[in-house]
Amino acid sequence: MDFQELVKFRRSSRWLFSKKPIPDADLRKILEAARFAPTPHNCQPFEIIVVKDRDIIRQISKVEFRLDKNAVDGHFYWTRFTREELESKKDGVYVDVLPKFVLDLKDNPQLINDDTFWKKAMELYALLIQNSAVLLFILYNRSLPGVGPLAHLWGIISIGAVMQNIWLAANDLGISVQLVSGQLMLPESARKLRQILQIPEKKFRLLLMMRLGYESKFGKYGTKIRREIEDFVHLNKFSNKFT
Ligand SMILES: Cc1cc2nc3c(=O)[nH]c(=O)nc-3n(C[C@H](O)[C@H](O)[C@H](O)COP(=O)(O)O)c2cc1C
Repeated sequence: MDFQELVKFRRSSRWLFSKKPIPDADLRKILEAARFAPTPHNCQPFEIIVVKDRDIIRQISKVEFRLDKNAVDGHFYWTRFTREELESKKDGVYVDVLPKFVLDLKDNPQLINDDTFWKKAMELYALLIQNSAVLLFILYNRSLPGVGPLAHLWGIISIGAVMQNIWLAANDLGISVQLVSGQLMLPESARKLRQILQIPEKKFRLLLMMRLGYESKFGKYGTKIRREIEDFVHLNKFSNKFT
């Protein structure tokens, strides 16, 4: 795909994938893209765990999480409930791609304390994870010496570059991607993931989980909306709009 086209095509795919395996050659192309991400001093502060083993994927899918009120409120702050709202704010996530359990919480806030509700929500979430060809985990190596007070921040920024290279390479190969952050937000769930993946204590921070796979034909995309260049670019000084 042409570069500009690919960047605009890159998308979150939030539904069931088929378990059809990703050819090793394609997986290597995706990892090759990760390899060449820019990092501070070329320190390459990342490790990637590729999970193909169905039993490990199943174990990961069983790691549950619950959102607290803050997290639910955070979701709704960024949810756009109408097209008008989406188009005027030009940010956030359109309601049509939000998981049903989050929407249920909007209508019935008391569900936040309901075990049966969470059990059902987690079953659906588990299904999404199980229906992935591969899971990728990106770890940040926080033990590397950095330079200056921003060293860790810059290191973590470079994990974003790794993520983006993976995402673009995958989408270019016709492989869909979803970032899955629910378990990583909660210390207890993240600890369980670390145990399953046998990540050594302290040295590595587990930052990102990505599910990859081929889409079923029933997939539906979120609406692509972004601020215009003039909305966030400044010319010479912050007070001047870029035109
Ligand atoms: C650090 C990070 C975490 C994210 N976590 C999730 C997530 O848990 N679930 C999800 O569906 N999308 C997640 N996303 C995807 C964003 O919601 C998505 O990129 C954004 O809404 C724009 O949509 P697009 O990717 O289709 O362009 C995450 C993105 C980033 C960068």
